[in-house]
Amino acid sequence: MTYQNYSLKQLQQIDAAHHLHPFTDHKELREAGSRIITHANGPFIYDSEGAELLDGMAGLWCVNIGYGRDELAEAAYAQMKELPYYNSFFKCSTPTPVLLSKKLAEIAPKNVNQVFYGSSGSEANDTALRLVRHYWVIEGKPEKNRVISRKMAYHGSTIAGTSLGGMDAMHKQLNGAVPNIVHVMMPYAYELALPGESDHDFGLRAAKSVEDAILEAGADKVAAFIGEPVMGAGGVKIPPASYWPEVQRICRKYDVLLMLDEVITGYGRTGEWFAAQTFGIEPDTITTAKALTSGYQPLSALLVGDRITSTLVEKGGEFHHGYTYSGHPVACAVALKNLEIIEQEGLVDRVRNDTGPYFAKALQERIAGHDLVGEVRSIGLMGAIEIVKDKATKERFLPSGSAAVTVRDHAIANGMMLRATGDTMILSPPLIWTRDTIDMACERIGKALDLAQADLRKR
Ligand SMILES: Cc1ncc(COP(=O)(O)O)c(C=O)c1O
Repeated sequence: MTYQNYSLKQLQQIDAAHHLHPFTDHKELREAGSRIITHANGPFIYDSEGAELLDGMAGLWCVNIGYGRDELAEAAYAQMKELPYYNSFFKCSTPTPVLLSKKLAEIAPKNVNQVFYGSSGSEANDTALRLVRHYWVIEGKPEKNRVISRKMAYHGSTIAGTSLGGMDAMHKQLNGAVPNIVHVMMPYAYELALPGESDHDFGLRAAKSVEDAILEAGADKVAAFIGEPVMGAGGVKIPPASYWPEVQRICRKYDVLLMLDEVITGYGRTGEWFAAQTFGIEPDTITTAKALTSGYQPLSALLVGDRITSTLVEKGGEFHHGYTYSGHPVACAVALKNLEIIEQEGLVDRVRNDTGPYFAKALQERIAGHDLVGEVRSIGLMGAIEIVKDKATKERFLPSGSAAVTVRDHAIANGMMLRATGDTMILSPPLIWTRDTIDMACERIGKALDLAQADLRKR
């Protein structure tokens, strides 16, 4: 029996009875019922009732080449028929992870040439944490095990991912994080810059918090700094231009490894293959997942810099770590085809030279002036809209986060899927968006803002 034989109500009842959703208040979900997305094509998703929504979030920051790509289905089918699975343990390999690794080394920053696979961004960050700590152990400095991260960072939802991340609500439920991880300030000028402080100076001050944390612990105790080049789930927080070069300088000065989490920014989102290239960073590890397969298969790739891999090879000894699905042949076949499409269609260059700048201008010209909007910002095809009660004072509506949810609900009702995080609306569309799609999105968001404003005024 296929799902078409069920009514929406029936599907919602079964969902409520048997399916525990991620990041969900299950009591609330049972009262509201889920929206069931049944199919998708190009930039649009469709629900069980036939509503068409322009997907402003590329699924969950991942469907970079858009929906309905037969080539990816065909790549998966062909690989499943030839070899659906074999592992890469015990000195074995299969062809697709081999070829994918070569491709990733070609497009990654030049000091990054090797790849460790998993199935999710969280797994890749677990690997990254284990790897940097292992690196310092085999370098003879086991006491160098502390990792510096940032408040509001999101690095996944496993125990290591949550511990690396800086989300208070997640830490509270963890009730005991992985030790020796500390969190410093985020580079979020809109709320944290001091009156009269320039973006440049604010970026340097935010970077200085990394140096302060290193000095407080002692450089001989600090293994690495980890950061998303642009904080994603925390609200598309784009650091000032002065931030990353200074963080890199500080890490080098104190011999601290630099770990980038590019689970969102990897594979074209900021107008380069990796945001490391956008910001001119030479990291020791780059965590990637999501758009590696455009979400068509679960796959993550931890890209590892030469400094770490040469030590691993020179010192030898087993790194006791890996997953059943590390280098899954089908997922890697899909990733290869996905990267080929991104390349053939010139999507990275298009984001850098055309749609990215057009998106920035459209947000500035058509959204920033709205009474509810405190700031818009974007980089490549990744943007944020700050929702405020008062543009001049940046005062927010209470309860916190409620106004953004009101905007989001109106947006969805008007055919636009976007996300609210705190008081910020976020956008991360498929890279296949054109200028016309951006125009359509701005029109729908503008309408949602008008409707939300009318509601919020009544409160
Ligand atoms: C920056 C970042 N790192 C890690 C993750 C975790 O990835 P996953 O949900 O695939 O475990 C996410 C997920 O959104 C992310 O945004």
